Amino acid sequence: MLEERLISSHLLDEDDNNENSIRPGRLSEYIGQEKVKENVEVFITAARERKESLDHVLLSGPPGLGKTTLASIIANEIGKPIRKTSGPAIERPGDLAAILTNLEPGEVLFIDEIHRLNRNVEEIMYPAMEDFVIDIIIGKGPAARTLRLDLPPFTLIGATTRPGLLSSPLRDRFGINCRLDFYTPLELGEIILRAARILEISLDKEGAAEIAGRSRGTPRVANRLLRRVRDYALVKGNGNIDFSLAKWALEMLEIDECGLDVMDRMILEAIIIKFSGGPVGLDTLAASVSEESDTISDVYEPYLLKLGFIQKTPRGRMATEHAYHHLGYPLKGNLQGKGLFSDE
Ligand code: ADE
Repeated sequence: MLEERLISSHLLDEDDNNENSIRPGRLSEYIGQEKVKENVEVFITAARERKESLDHVLLSGPPGLGKTTLASIIANEIGKPIRKTSGPAIERPGDLAAILTNLEPGEVLFIDEIHRLNRNVEEIMYPAMEDFVIDIIIGKGPAARTLRLDLPPFTLIGATTRPGLLSSPLRDRFGINCRLDFYTPLELGEIILRAARILEISLDKEGAAEIAGRSRGTPRVANRLLRRVRDYALVKGNGNIDFSLAKWALEMLEIDECGLDVMDRMILEAIIIKFSGGPVGLDTLAASVSEESDTISDVYEPYLLKLGFIQKTPRGRMATEHAYHHLGYPLKGNLQGKGLFSDE
């Protein structure tokens, strides 16, 4: 579905190509996340002065906020190469041992979705992070022996959309913990204008602001919407993106003024209509809109929570008054008799 693709948490091939060209390479080019940037800069400078490898860094936050970009920038700033992999890609302890023993001194190892590392692999990670050693078990049964291997010093950068799912031994071994938050419309406007300059897209400030306001606080969404709006400008306009072209194109894409797309509205509507405002459990809600539970909780929910359209309670998700107003429904309790239910 087009709308799903517009806010997808996953990089699509098209994004991958384009994102590489517009990705900032230095901290000074990275817009927003001021607190994180300030802290990272201090820790990088201190590590450089002490001639030590940078402490391990955990980057957490919703998808599309620039965790991978920030990891590459950190490697760039400390002048070391970066090797990128992901939690699910490292299936066995041997896979991780092979990666770790091949690192250059000071190299950055980036593990995306680090909350999805399996337990056996994770256990190899503890001594590797703490003492730069790994213990390899050779043989089986009574003849099994442990071989301790020294590793070069390295910096692990872990990224996660779900810091709460990290085991505490793993979480505690990260010396630097950075939480990325949604960007403001002003920051997103700057990001969009920067991307437009690099991609040679004709865009004015008002057009950028209009796209920024509907980008759900997320640069990846902003850059994707910019490319779709550019398509409309090229085919239906004169190639320039101004306020009215952007507004019209975003309406064609069914992205509303708050940045909600068709799936966001389906989720809210399901809670309000099918589950009488909630509470409803995540899996039940996901099944009712034919979406994966993880996608709902990682991609859609954080922004709906931020806007105050849903509430998470111990018994499940509930729609707030805001959500009823936004979708134009009368408040819970006043829905009966409005012809919204199949038995009315
Ligand atoms: N592109 C994606 N994220 C960005 C950011 N934070 N700053 C500049 N350009 C970006």
